[in-house]
Amino acid sequence: MKKIRVNASKAYDILMGEGLLEGAGEAVKNACSCQKAFVVSDTNVFPLYGEKLRASLEKAGLEVFEYVFEAGESSKNVSVYSEIVEKMCLAGLTRGDVAVALGGGVVGDVTGFAAATYRRGIPFVQIPTTLLADVDSSVGGKTAIDLANGKNQLGAFWQPSLVICDLLTLDTLPTEEYQNGCAEIIKYGMYGDSNLFEKIAAGPVSSDYENVIARCVEMKRDVVEKDEFEQGPRMVLNLGHTFGHAIEKLSGYSIPHGEAVATGMNIIATAAVKLGYAKTGTDEKLREVLKKYDLPLETEFGAAEMAEAAAGDKKTLGGMITLVVPTGIGVCDLVKVPVSDLLKFALAGGLR
Ligand SMILES: NC(=O)c1ccc[n+]([C@@H]2O[C@H](COP(=O)([O-])OP(=O)(O)OC[C@H]3O[C@@H](n4cnc5c(N)ncnc54)[C@H](O)[C@@H]3O)[C@@H](O)[C@H]2O)c1
Ligand SMILES: [Zn+2]
Repeated sequence: MKKIRVNASKAYDILMGEGLLEGAGEAVKNACSCQKAFVVSDTNVFPLYGEKLRASLEKAGLEVFEYVFEAGESSKNVSVYSEIVEKMCLAGLTRGDVAVALGGGVVGDVTGFAAATYRRGIPFVQIPTTLLADVDSSVGGKTAIDLANGKNQLGAFWQPSLVICDLLTLDTLPTEEYQNGCAEIIKYGMYGDSNLFEKIAAGPVSSDYENVIARCVEMKRDVVEKDEFEQGPRMVLNLGHTFGHAIEKLSGYSIPHGEAVATGMNIIATAAVKLGYAKTGTDEKLREVLKKYDLPLETEFGAAEMAEAAAGDKKTLGGMITLVVPTGIGVCDLVKVPVSDLLKFALAGGLR
């Protein structure tokens, strides 16, 4: 088992290893010294791992409450959130108790937001079960739900008290979700660690989950410790996301996030080489790895509509946008440009 300490506004541990669900109850109890655990999960994950988690929490002497919602992004909404907090109230949960998120990023985000706001904030524990949640959403304390007009529009920064990654849960992950997680993992290698990049290029991520996930979590930990509230350095995590979000938006969110980010990374890396920010060949190396993981390189959307959609991204400020531009494999620059330059980057990135 690996243990990574995060020193954010609240310090907490991230545990990772195989079979950790068995001992989750003890770990939760130690981290939160609580009486009641309110477990939130979805209709795919709960039947697979809910029983095991309940047994472990009960064994540790906790009173367990459960709430299971329909799997999928469409559940990350106000009505699921409001049902969760109403049920927390009925269960008599206090600030001395704990909310436990068992699932992917959707479960983690909505449970975290419920925990952040119920009674002005109660402890919560993340038990991620997707690769994306292991390396990204469970770390860093961003919690949110979607509103009718946009994703993650209602949220809070609220750090968990503990994160438990049981790597055995990844055995049941559908291939598409594996690929989505791999896109984010490639992003880590690309923006900040050429050794990680080479490792991903050499072998499938699934052949060494523990070390690959641990490295990504360390990298996310490092930026979160420097910039918990996303004022500057944390932006490196957005590599590929400016054009990625544009693809998601233009597709009406029918293209999965990981696929969109993969294409977004290809666009910005291609532009970076063409515009002289990155060494020749940087984009080609990235494309080889994306192909290896069956991630898409191209989009049907044109340069103008992509630039316009990217300009609407929440990362724009006063007509300027900060782009994460690779300068080689494992290195990048934060480049602040006028929003009107997005078209230049889109065209240089190979869009028509
Ligand atoms: N808070 C953050 O910092 C942050 C970062 C990145 C993404 N996110 C959010 O995370 C969400 C995406 O997360 P996700 O990709 O984990 O999606 P998800 O939670 O929807 O999970 C994907 C699918 O896999 C299923 N699943 C989960 N674990 C499984 C398992 N072990 N076996 C079988 N099926 C399993 C789920 O039921 C779901 O159908 C988005 O809403 C995104 O906005 C948040
Ligand atoms: Zn992402």
